[in-house]
Amino acid sequence: MADATKTSTVRSHWRSRVGFVLAAAGSAVGLGNIWKFPYITGENGGGWFVLVYLVCIALIGVPIMMAEVLIGKTSQRSPVGAFRALSKPRSPWILSGWLGVLTAFVILSYYSVVAGWSLHYIWLSVSEGFNGQTPDQIGDTFGAVAGSTSISVGWHLAFMAITIAIVAAGIRNGIEVAAKVLMPTLFVLMLVMLVYAATRSGFGEAVAFVFQPSSKKFTGAGALEALGHSFFTLSLGMGAMITYGSYMQKSTDIVKASVTVSLLDTLVALMSCLILFPMLFTVGKDPAAGPGLVFASMPIAFSQMPGGTILAPIFFVLLAFAALTSAISLLEVAASYFIDEQGISRAVAVLGTGITIALLGIPSAMSNSTEIFGAQTAASTENFMQVFGKEGMNWLDFFDYLASNWMLPIGALLIALFAAWRVGDEARKQGFTEGSTWGNVYMIWLQVLRYVVPIAIVAVFLYASGILAKLGWV
Ligand code: TRP
Repeated sequence: MADATKTSTVRSHWRSRVGFVLAAAGSAVGLGNIWKFPYITGENGGGWFVLVYLVCIALIGVPIMMAEVLIGKTSQRSPVGAFRALSKPRSPWILSGWLGVLTAFVILSYYSVVAGWSLHYIWLSVSEGFNGQTPDQIGDTFGAVAGSTSISVGWHLAFMAITIAIVAAGIRNGIEVAAKVLMPTLFVLMLVMLVYAATRSGFGEAVAFVFQPSSKKFTGAGALEALGHSFFTLSLGMGAMITYGSYMQKSTDIVKASVTVSLLDTLVALMSCLILFPMLFTVGKDPAAGPGLVFASMPIAFSQMPGGTILAPIFFVLLAFAALTSAISLLEVAASYFIDEQGISRAVAVLGTGITIALLGIPSAMSNSTEIFGAQTAASTENFMQVFGKEGMNWLDFFDYLASNWMLPIGALLIALFAAWRVGDEARKQGFTEGSTWGNVYMIWLQVLRYVVPIAIVAVFLYASGILAKLGWV
């Protein structure tokens, strides 16, 4: 094998220097950008939420991405081993690696359900199409899809099977090749849709909704959601970027790679909003429609635009691919723990973790359904959630809430503290500057990671929990 580095004899590395950027962008750009970001922006009233999100990306997300990549590149290990290698055996820091592995299980279990819906929509757009349907009929279709156990569970399992097959094929042949072709295609198709959206009468209203901070809907919980989503969308806080960084060649520029990935990701998220909201506003629909937003609003657009019958299946294929390159990174984190730490073969580790995650996702796949076990499934998961004080959330919502708003910010905080305070000065500086033309931002980055990032994350936690309000500070 023509590995370009001498640092590790057995570990495989990306084929090319852009290999990391492609795979990391593939991980970052996913359902978080196209499915989740528009609907949580809608629920939180637009403007302010988007602004806080952008500040979180630039000030907290980008420095943490550099920290994760650095930890991976320097240690050449997946999260648990990386924390051990850069501290000492049995150090409590290793717990942050395990938290990451656990988070991968939680996120992928419901992520795959939503990805499964996009697979079903490929089928729907080819078999029936959306032409001639009213916006209300299209909205009802989503309710029927999410509410059907056989559709949701079936496509969830199918999606997990595809993810397992690719990850089992290894990082060079599976992940890198898929990302190289699919990400640029997605980008071009989104540009086409954006141009169409700009011709719709609701475009002006949509731009104002997204970029004008005026809404009173924004709350402390919204700030935590913006912070959590900035981690979710950049694939941070659970070691995915540590894992991908560990396959990185020493000559790759950490600073440039992290900034490129973050910019691409943010661009796709904003484009998604500027495609979805004009469609909704043009037909007078509510932007706070929740998780069904992309599945309801995109088909409305396709049913009305010229060429929609052809573009609809293409869009859902690409959505499924964007989800796939992200799902791959989630499964890779879980599996690489067993490969690197337990010495289990890739095939067995991927199959074992993949099947466990598929089973864990079944409650999420059934969380909107009423058709099985007598008509009570959805209602009973909601009763269950009352135990956590989260009435109205079903299983999928709850897993997403738990992972995005708590596990990822806590994981990200630990990673930032580790990289900033625990990793040795020399190793950190070398890892950061090696191969980089941006070595001179090292000191700035370190100060931000040491002080700004932890204080900001803790402040958002305090704000969201209402403690700051009780003290009369906000
Ligand atoms: N970033 C992906 C998205 O926006 C989801 C994802 C992939 C992820 N890998 C991750 C989120 C690791 C958190 C951590 O859809």
